[in-house]
Amino acid sequence: MIMDRLKAPARLMIVSDLDHTMVDHHDKENLSLLRFNSLWEANYRHDSLLVFSTGRSLTLYKELRKEKPMLTPDITIMSVGTEITYGNDMVPDDGWVKVLNQKWDKDIVREEASKFSELKLQAETEQRAHKVSFYVEKDKAQAVTKALSEALKQRGLDVKIIYSGGIDLDILPQGAGKGQALAYLLQKFKTEGHPPVNTLVCGDSGNDAELFSIPEVYGVMVKNAQEELLQWHAENAKDNKKIIHATERCAAGIIQAIGHFSLGPNLPPRDVTDISDYIVENMNPGHNIVEFFLFYEKWRRAEIENSEIYLAGVKANCCPSATYVHPTGNENNLHNCINALRDCYGDKQGKHYRVWVDQVLPTQIDSNTWLVKFDMWVLSGEEQNAARGTAIYSSKGENPSGHLTWIRGHQTWIKGYEPKQVASFFG
Ligand code: GLC
Ligand code: MG
Repeated sequence: MIMDRLKAPARLMIVSDLDHTMVDHHDKENLSLLRFNSLWEANYRHDSLLVFSTGRSLTLYKELRKEKPMLTPDITIMSVGTEITYGNDMVPDDGWVKVLNQKWDKDIVREEASKFSELKLQAETEQRAHKVSFYVEKDKAQAVTKALSEALKQRGLDVKIIYSGGIDLDILPQGAGKGQALAYLLQKFKTEGHPPVNTLVCGDSGNDAELFSIPEVYGVMVKNAQEELLQWHAENAKDNKKIIHATERCAAGIIQAIGHFSLGPNLPPRDVTDISDYIVENMNPGHNIVEFFLFYEKWRRAEIENSEIYLAGVKANCCPSATYVHPTGNENNLHNCINALRDCYGDKQGKHYRVWVDQVLPTQIDSNTWLVKFDMWVLSGEEQNAARGTAIYSSKGENPSGHLTWIRGHQTWIKGYEPKQVASFFG
């Protein structure tokens, strides 16, 4: 399904760095990330593309995904634009790798760099086919970069040296980097006849600078952007009105940019405090799923009022004969499941408890029926559980709230994320 979406022009393509851009390492609650997730899944997932562009190798990228409530991107660009992969299966783009072999030899790079005592080699996982990475102190970075470039030129190589986060120094082939990887993708989409309608790049540090130099893209440097990026911007892109320095940190800065450039809806469903406002929303089946699980989280956290009106509202969106199959295989009437929610109001109050959905993908199966696939994630204390689900909605019988009517739900555990103790309802 993702691969199919890669063949149509994306309404919005977001190309975002991860550390300190999409992911705020100073936000233990991950609120801005969760807000972004709700916005993306409710309004963009079905016709837009999410691209993560990170300095991390696959090994460290996987670690981050375990630590933070991140969505699954459509395209993953890793190791500072030297590795491009597509879809959930992370199918590598072999064409891109070939481009990078020109005037590049990582053994020579390591040999020459070892002559600089200021450079401390990073972990072996971060040394890649087209990326050699070190740590170097801020005050030594410039001089080392200059001398090392000279030395490598003498050896016949053509490299790019990038300084990020006031500590990391990456050496890449000249044709590599986050910007070149994005230019390659845009060119590929153009050649295939489906360039994105709008592209928004998001970053905070030195290795993101190139993203902002790609013509025609919008860009946001998040509030907490590093000095080296702000300096690059001041010297190279000061008058470009398509680039802003957000007043909000990390993912909240990305949401801000979507609004600033009018790229589409920018109110995350997670921010809607009056649940009854949900009722007037458009008929987007993906939206229904996002709203339902937000309601579920807020109800259990006692962040909304314990009111029968809410339960009645949820029930009004379900056909009275609708059934729900729990991941354990137990089948129940959906109205009964919702009634059972009365007993868990506030049971997660003051606790570490979040629910979010990922890859919410609706397909219309006939003129009035929709099938929505989604992954649901629950973080409860230290435990993280996940289930893959499908929901079927009908537009028959005109629901007065404007919502589609829920006629069936089904979930199965995602392997490795089954709960230790099976709870009732959605777990
Ligand atoms: C990530 C990578 C590291 C790289 C840095 C800056 O932290 O793990 O190897 O140097 O990004 O690009
Ligand atoms: Mg970063």
